[in-house]
Amino acid sequence: MKKILGIGGSPRKGGNSDILLQRLLKGASDEGVATEEIQLREYQFQPCIACERCRKDKECTGLQDGMQLIYPKIREAGGMILISPIYSYNVTALTKSFIDRLYSFYHFSDERPGQWSSHLAGQGRKAIIAVVGEQATRAEGGMDLTLETMRRSVEALGYEVVDELPVLGIFHKGKVREYPQVLEQAEALGRRLASLL
Ligand SMILES: Cc1cc2nc3c(=O)[nH]c(=O)nc-3n(C[C@H](O)[C@H](O)[C@H](O)COP(=O)(O)O)c2cc1C
Repeated sequence: MKKILGIGGSPRKGGNSDILLQRLLKGASDEGVATEEIQLREYQFQPCIACERCRKDKECTGLQDGMQLIYPKIREAGGMILISPIYSYNVTALTKSFIDRLYSFYHFSDERPGQWSSHLAGQGRKAIIAVVGEQATRAEGGMDLTLETMRRSVEALGYEVVDELPVLGIFHKGKVREYPQVLEQAEALGRRLASLL
């Protein structure tokens, strides 16, 4: 469980999210914690189709695709770093599809709407959520909305979100490299997450 899984939700290889995720994970591994980086764009998976088979099977059995490779990685890591660029005021479609496929970690009561819980809750799991966007202010480009989507989804799964990293005003591929203080902040947050596990 003393491991951190970094999950990148940008379709753009080598872009700002990739660079930030690598720095977040570098901070964590400098602190002596095992880390693994995965990029969602490298996995072939579908959005959730609401087959509801996971309610009975307690895992996703309805879609045999790349998510089946990701589920065990999530289970075995006590820490998670989830990063997405903002696309149209929210997470990327890739990130949203990923979040929806985590539905199989939930247990629901028979009546709907009704009570629910997460199979991952109560295990001391901790997370950082990170977002990068083009607009200069939080309100303008959807930063708050994007962070809220990620926070609520990750908390519902049973993680404590220990830090958020909002990075504003970055559009071009790799531009974040020109902001060493942001990269240092990412490393510091990675170290903090590792120290809390
Ligand atoms: C389809 C698309 C939609 C975008 N929508 C927004 C937006 O609503 N708000 C914003 O601040 N930036 C928006 N951006 C800019 C990206 O968030 C920005 O370029 C970010 O640095 C990309 O991160 P990446 O290099 O990790 O892919 C959008 C970019 C694309 C390609």
